Amino acid sequence: MVDLAPSETEIRIEKLNKAFDDKPVLQGVDLTVLVGSFIAIVGGSGCGKTVLLNHILGLLKPDSGRIHVRMEGELVDLAGLNGEQLDDLHKHWGVVFQRNALFSGTVLDNIALWLKEVRHLEEEAVEIIAAKVLDSVGLPTERDFLDSPVESLSGGMAKRIAIARSLAMKPDCLFFDEPTTGLDPVNASQIQDLLLSTHIDQEAGGVPRTTIIVTHDKDLLVRLKPQIVMLHEGKVSFNGQFEDFMTSASPIIRPYFDLMPVLHQRDGGKV
Ligand SMILES: Nc1ncnc2c1ncn2[C@@H]1O[C@H](COP(=O)(O)OP(=O)(O)OP(=O)(O)O)[C@@H](O)[C@H]1O
Ligand SMILES: [Mg+2]
Repeated sequence: MVDLAPSETEIRIEKLNKAFDDKPVLQGVDLTVLVGSFIAIVGGSGCGKTVLLNHILGLLKPDSGRIHVRMEGELVDLAGLNGEQLDDLHKHWGVVFQRNALFSGTVLDNIALWLKEVRHLEEEAVEIIAAKVLDSVGLPTERDFLDSPVESLSGGMAKRIAIARSLAMKPDCLFFDEPTTGLDPVNASQIQDLLLSTHIDQEAGGVPRTTIIVTHDKDLLVRLKPQIVMLHEGKVSFNGQFEDFMTSASPIIRPYFDLMPVLHQRDGGKV
């Protein structure tokens, strides 16, 4: 391990390139994410947002370029980590995929799995944590609810379970891929507020967690005003404050922002 950067760097991406079947997607992405950032990654459909996220998570390998991540206070090259070290890293990261990636089974099964398998906690400790995280995402904590199959839940509830499951592992970093896509207006705005509240780690005394949200949702940006990272033609074309993004006259940003959908309006309230 080498200390390559100031201690406040969480993720550093340098000259990241990735093509699929000779079709370039990422073409020299440079990005530094500071510890405690609250970032939205935006950009047109197919511009490579999910591909970038999957590289950070170590699920895709770059064609060239480097990704360094913070591990135990030092920046380490993701490419140099073995499977066990990658698992260790993931214990400190919470990921909420677009389709939530819940396992079939009950609410409690979903929250318990990693606590049992990774943390080796007993049932009693698991249930205490489950009640705490369900409460923090605004869901019931009664036995009936814990025992209900996740297939019976609405889209908004399933999203909350996926967020609760991540929080149960006490993550330092949270990653969300399109957290409000397909939700009705009430659920969308509740999930938006949840993104802001989970950003602050109350148990750690109000320390902000590093939070990265891939999104198409203009309403989310207006409401939460995150730092904006825009991908365009395979590169980071904007990295800065929301206010500067919103008022930018750039010919790349202006039409994108003006036409950016408010997702729950486009989806007609589908849950
Ligand atoms: N495993 C893969 N194999 C081949 N092509 C892929 C693969 N994954 C992504 N791509 C291509 O890479 C490009 C970027 O995809 P990506 O999913 O990152 O887009 P995105 O910005 O997340 O779009 P959206 O906003 O629609 O989710 C697309 O053209 C996609 O078809
Ligand atoms: Mg995507």
